[in-house]
Amino acid sequence: ALRGAAAPKAQKSSQRSQYHLNPQASYKVAILGAAGGIGQPLALLVKMSPLISALHIYDIANVKGVATDLSHCNTPSQVLGFTGTSELPNSLKGVDVVVIPAGVPRKPGMTRDDLFSINANIVKTLVEAVADNCPDAFIHIISNPVNSTLPIAAEVLKQKGVYDPKKLFGVTTLDVVRANTFVAQKKNLKLIDVDVPVVGGHAGITILPLLSKTRPQVSFNDEEVQELTLRIQNAGTEVVEAKEGAGSATLSMAYAAARFVESSLRALDGDADVYECSFVQSDLTELPFFASRVKLGRKGVEAFISSDLQGLTEYEQKALEALKPELKASIEKGIAFAQK
Ligand code: NAD
Ligand code: LMR
Repeated sequence: ALRGAAAPKAQKSSQRSQYHLNPQASYKVAILGAAGGIGQPLALLVKMSPLISALHIYDIANVKGVATDLSHCNTPSQVLGFTGTSELPNSLKGVDVVVIPAGVPRKPGMTRDDLFSINANIVKTLVEAVADNCPDAFIHIISNPVNSTLPIAAEVLKQKGVYDPKKLFGVTTLDVVRANTFVAQKKNLKLIDVDVPVVGGHAGITILPLLSKTRPQVSFNDEEVQELTLRIQNAGTEVVEAKEGAGSATLSMAYAAARFVESSLRALDGDADVYECSFVQSDLTELPFFASRVKLGRKGVEAFISSDLQGLTEYEQKALEALKPELKASIEKGIAFAQK
């Protein structure tokens, strides 16, 4: 199962039992960049969702075969393929959730910011089309550098007069997925129970796992904190290096993105118990955008889980202060690009 974060204790017992998967649910999801390394396995996982009636897959090339292939799966949603910019508007009409993994991935030796010059334009163009065709949709930005592409998307939506900060998400779910996996391995815990909030952004030191807030409560010595934090921050690079030039994380990313889609659909469907980490417009710090755990509802972000940032360890507090200048610069770079 694509399991989202558990609710904080107080809300858990009272609300979890109220939601049952709605057999009548019929949401439409579009994936832009669907023929790529992330796009294809993501489309497959999303095709398995019982909450979806239509899956629109869009790319600049190679969509037809992917759409035909997927359409033979006997799960409820209808698959429609759209190729090239002339078909982009139709791929977005009536869509509830748009996921954007379009763009180039890293090769060894590159930072995510090295992708900016290509991916910034791709995200800008795609979000303009989203603004024109499905301005009410939840928008999930996967394309890197997320610390800049999310602010670009916000700026484009503002320029189009349709920006709803509650519905625009930078996807950081993979950081949580990794943190949960690595912590469970290290501490010999049952994976399904482990939940580590990861805050900040999605690159290097801006990825800050709050290990002291791990549930169930676990204690870590200083060495473990240091080792786990670095592994979580460098996990993307670990995959880039293992793939030796053939790209970055695709399968674990598709898994994480599918979990975030499923959480969004459950929230749209009225589940009152949906919590995920995401890079969103935020008042939690002095930065305009910040990743934290948020509560999702029908209208998008319903609440910020500010308690995660209270009572941090000295290590976490220092790391939080240290990440802010880099995250701020990446955000400003994105905004400046979109305003020029
Ligand atoms: P990929 O090269 O395998 O696939 C990208 C796809 O985007 C290709 O099919 C390409 O045709 C398509 N594309 C390019 N320009 C497009 C446009 N203008 N409109 C529509 N589609 C377009 O790359 P990938 O491995 O799938 O990675 C995609 C992006 O996701 C990269 O930027 C990567 O860095 C990022 N990523 C983010 C995370 C995260 O945690 N947020 C994790 C992994 C990868
Ligand atoms: C990841 O975290 O795997 C992605 O952001 C891709 C990358 O370039 O590391």
